[in-house]
Amino acid sequence: MRDQLIPLDRHYDADKLLEIYNELPKAHQIIVTGKDASTPTPVTPYADKDSDDHGVLLNIFKDSYLEDVYNDIAKDYTIGKTRFWTMDRSRRAYSYHTDFTKRLHIPLATNDNAFFILEDYQTEHMPVLGQLYELDTTRLHSAVNLSQDDNPRIHLVFGII
Ligand SMILES: [Fe+2]
Repeated sequence: MRDQLIPLDRHYDADKLLEIYNELPKAHQIIVTGKDASTPTPVTPYADKDSDDHGVLLNIFKDSYLEDVYNDIAKDYTIGKTRFWTMDRSRRAYSYHTDFTKRLHIPLATNDNAFFILEDYQTEHMPVLGQLYELDTTRLHSAVNLSQDDNPRIHLVFGII
């Protein structure tokens, strides 16, 4: 395993997180954090316009399992912009790019044909649902979901600042 993507020895309940996800409006990116907890809507069509440091958990997720996960990760990281991030037939790939911050990923649904392209052009998959992975997104990367059967790839993605 190369050093750009590191599986961490930390696991969460992917089914419980998916239950929360399934209650939300559908969008490629559903924000979980904002500038403050009262940010009214969990969905922004262009979530990348939110600042990377907008890491306050939204009120709608208070007292949920998602808050437990957030608090557990916050023990060791300063959390920034955090989203449920879906890739499917309507959004199969992102440009090959760098971000300002590293990211933590928790895969909630995936398939063998969803993977990252890393700095060295090699590919890497996050196979274990519920496991925490650290990805150095300040280095070149892309994500793709090439599932022929239109299986979505759903990750909970934390910016870390
Ligand atoms: Fe990225």
